Amino acid sequence: MPRRAPWIVALLTLATISLGACGGPFPQSALDPASDFAWKLQDLFEGIFFWAVVVFVLVEGALIVAILRFRERPGGPEPKATHGNTLLEISWTLAPAIILVLIAIPTIKTIWDVDRPARGESLVVEAVGHQWWWEFRYPDLGIVTANELHIPVGQQIDVRLTSADVIHSFWFPRLGGKRDVIPGHETQIWFTADSAGLYLGQCAEFCGLSHALMKMQLVAESPADFEVWVEGQLADAVVTDSVSFAEGTQAFMRGGCIACHKVRGTVAQGVIGPDLTHVGSRRRIAGGILDNTPENMERWIRDSRGVKPGSLMIVPELDDETVNRIVEYLQGLK
Ligand code: CUA
Repeated sequence: MPRRAPWIVALLTLATISLGACGGPFPQSALDPASDFAWKLQDLFEGIFFWAVVVFVLVEGALIVAILRFRERPGGPEPKATHGNTLLEISWTLAPAIILVLIAIPTIKTIWDVDRPARGESLVVEAVGHQWWWEFRYPDLGIVTANELHIPVGQQIDVRLTSADVIHSFWFPRLGGKRDVIPGHETQIWFTADSAGLYLGQCAEFCGLSHALMKMQLVAESPADFEVWVEGQLADAVVTDSVSFAEGTQAFMRGGCIACHKVRGTVAQGVIGPDLTHVGSRRRIAGGILDNTPENMERWIRDSRGVKPGSLMIVPELDDETVNRIVEYLQGLK
């Protein structure tokens, strides 16, 4: 028994490592498709994976048989020398060639299929990559938002991609493949979400110091819920208390925030940073890396470069009173 202990330890370690990967949840798994686009990739992957398993079992099986049956034994005869076998040579040249053709046909078909422009009725969204956040515009609806994309389930979304600075890559793993986001050039991706939910996305092209912190969220919702969201976005910011709103606007100006940010219906008309008209209604802030709470908002305003290295947001030294007013004001912009 003691002699077997190392084997058991090795097996248990291996099992722990490999089974650990079965845990979940997997909010960014490309193997958990939730759109027509993602299903095309999944079907291709599963088809090729199946044949890869067949080849693996055949080849490894033959190898194991050869090792067990034909291994050298003490006192055994010398192995017979052979010189070529035409039938074998032809078959092991032809078989891989046929397998590669069988993989190439569905692969090329899928590439052409997902690379074409959107067809038919679709909701157009313009996504603009910035270091390090995402701007989303709905030209037909007149909505501009940041980092949180809302779409109706069952409707095709036609995303037109471009960048304000360097090359980024638009990627919602559960909804579609990666697409380069290039300054001065429009690329495209389309998909139809098949179930409601919150999907996480990520910039997938190294784009500078905080590339890993360039996240985004997508809320797929029923057409009715989407309508409600659209109505809310189209309205100017909701003012709950006009006194604190006026004071908040003052603080927002004192902080210099209006140079870069827009809050529709106020003097803040900046276009460099995200549109903050409804920032209070978003789930996350700071390019999708912090939950939208007053504490995080304050942290972000006081230490934007600590939260996101290289961030372009420059905030002057502000007294506590001003910071608190700004946080309260932004949280109120539902
Ligand atoms: Cu943007 Cu990486």
